[in-house]
Amino acid sequence: MCGIVGILGKEDVAHDIVDALRRLEYRGYDSAGVATIVERGLQRRRAEGKLRNLEARLVEVPLGGKAGIGHTRWATHGKPTETNAHPHMSARVSVVHNGIIENFRELRDEMVAAGCQFESETDTETIVHLITHYLDAGKSHLEAVQETLQRLTGAFALGIIFADDDDLMIAARQGSPLAIGHGTGEVYLGSDAIALAPFTNKITYLDEGDYAVLRRETVEIYDRDGVRVERPKVQAVAGALTVDKGNHRHFMHKEIHEQPEVVSHTLAHYIDMSTHQVAIPDLGLDLAKVDRVTISACGTAYYAGLVAKYWIERYARVPVEIDVASEMRYREAPLADNGLAVFVSQSGETADTLATLRYCKENGQRIASIVNVRSSTIARESDAIMPILAGPEIGVASTKAFTCQLSALACLAIALGKARGQIDEALEQELVGALTEMPRHISSVVRTEADYLPLATELSKARDILYLGRGMSFPIAMEGALKLKEISYIHAEGYAAGELKHGPIALIDEKVPVIVIAPKDALFEKTISNMQEVAARGGRIVLVSDAPPEAFGAEVMHQVVMPTVHPFVSPIVSAIPIQLIAYHTAVFMGTDVDQPRNLAKSVTVE
Ligand code: M6R
Repeated sequence: MCGIVGILGKEDVAHDIVDALRRLEYRGYDSAGVATIVERGLQRRRAEGKLRNLEARLVEVPLGGKAGIGHTRWATHGKPTETNAHPHMSARVSVVHNGIIENFRELRDEMVAAGCQFESETDTETIVHLITHYLDAGKSHLEAVQETLQRLTGAFALGIIFADDDDLMIAARQGSPLAIGHGTGEVYLGSDAIALAPFTNKITYLDEGDYAVLRRETVEIYDRDGVRVERPKVQAVAGALTVDKGNHRHFMHKEIHEQPEVVSHTLAHYIDMSTHQVAIPDLGLDLAKVDRVTISACGTAYYAGLVAKYWIERYARVPVEIDVASEMRYREAPLADNGLAVFVSQSGETADTLATLRYCKENGQRIASIVNVRSSTIARESDAIMPILAGPEIGVASTKAFTCQLSALACLAIALGKARGQIDEALEQELVGALTEMPRHISSVVRTEADYLPLATELSKARDILYLGRGMSFPIAMEGALKLKEISYIHAEGYAAGELKHGPIALIDEKVPVIVIAPKDALFEKTISNMQEVAARGGRIVLVSDAPPEAFGAEVMHQVVMPTVHPFVSPIVSAIPIQLIAYHTAVFMGTDVDQPRNLAKSVTVE
């Protein structure tokens, strides 16, 4: 999603703003721009496409100014053109904006009727005209922004500078995160702390509804009622500020390789390694009395939740309702008394997940969230959080966050099972033993990476690929298809293996590779029968399994040989080959692996 950077500095800031924007590139964007205050007023440079285009523009036509704002835009209203790129400005004010102004049409009509001329198709430009309108009416800078904020409906984060005061920046947060960085005689604004890492690690996060008046020596924060408030200045943890590929070609590759370590960290957070007992945080309700669990999330995080449904229903015997957040938020689903609602989100800022969380809260559910970013909005609006310890995930394709989410959810399932008397001590020891061995198994799969190169070459020729799985391997099949399509742009679908003959089998011919995830568990024979049906129709099979070749009874194009693991953890270990298949296929095809087209890392609009 879009990124915001603002600096009130001691030297010219345009270069530093672009550098900071580069740290936000992972969020996805399609144009960029920077505006500063110079003697003659506000000046800006903008460019379509990547930041290098903006840098080239700044070389052609340099931009001075010790105060400025910058933005990477992920188009929502209007095409990703230079005209629609931020910052937007009038002679008096310049604005960068993340999020969506829902009532922009009526505001725009009002401004047009008042004689304003719009140059872009964006909702953001409405904000510029509104602030200018109030300034022209004699309001102070702060009053003009306050009046404007009251007119806006939607979710947004704003950075605003004014032509006539180069020691002033106003920030506002409603639904999209914003962080203020404190320097010495300098102050910074960023849509996340990562952007501010080169400048400072002293950070203040704005709360929902806050707005702030930033000057080089002072920061004043007001809440949504206009009451002056203090928000804590926190030290951003070093890990959260490290954005470095190390020796890896892509962040995604680095993140795949980090999994043994970050999964261990996450497990260690929820398991007492000396007793092999699960100890999750107090969720603020008696787990023994939880009659129903509701899970909601988007994309990869949703698939993590879907695996958790199998775990919780099977091991804790609690019914689980799960839906993608974009549906659940509008479904008006009835929710059980004494229900636990669990939200899974790497970023903790996903708009649909947040909206569903609020719906569940309003309907009396206890809210627990599984998040990677502990300072995120979803974390802050939850009754309890179960953090994952994945560290910053930069690649748009979620990898290490997924396996860490699964690790935390597995511990939640065990805790529920114990509380409800469904998991005794022996079973707990067995399941925890399986979990603690998992990082080693993940490591062994990652080490076989070279085996994926010929397979990736073969898969890159396909137009369509099917993924099949049963039981807990079904969500992994869907996750495999999502991973492949989002970074290689090859069309892929994941199906429950048993659904094959209800339609998808019509697609099978020798051109369609079928990736079958079939660990040697209780459902193995059933999945293999479905695989044989594919083979009989000329389908080319890639089997991800720990079973020996004599167990297949059909010819396979390629076997990804998996370690034999406890069925409880097999969906987590099976996630690794599907990540490696997607990664190497995409690399072979030469796509932008870390920033795939049209995608954003943090989806803060619905
Ligand atoms: O930050 P979140 O976990 O809430 O994000 C949810 C999805 O947008 C995300 O998992 C997306 O599907 C990934 N790009 C998949 O790799």
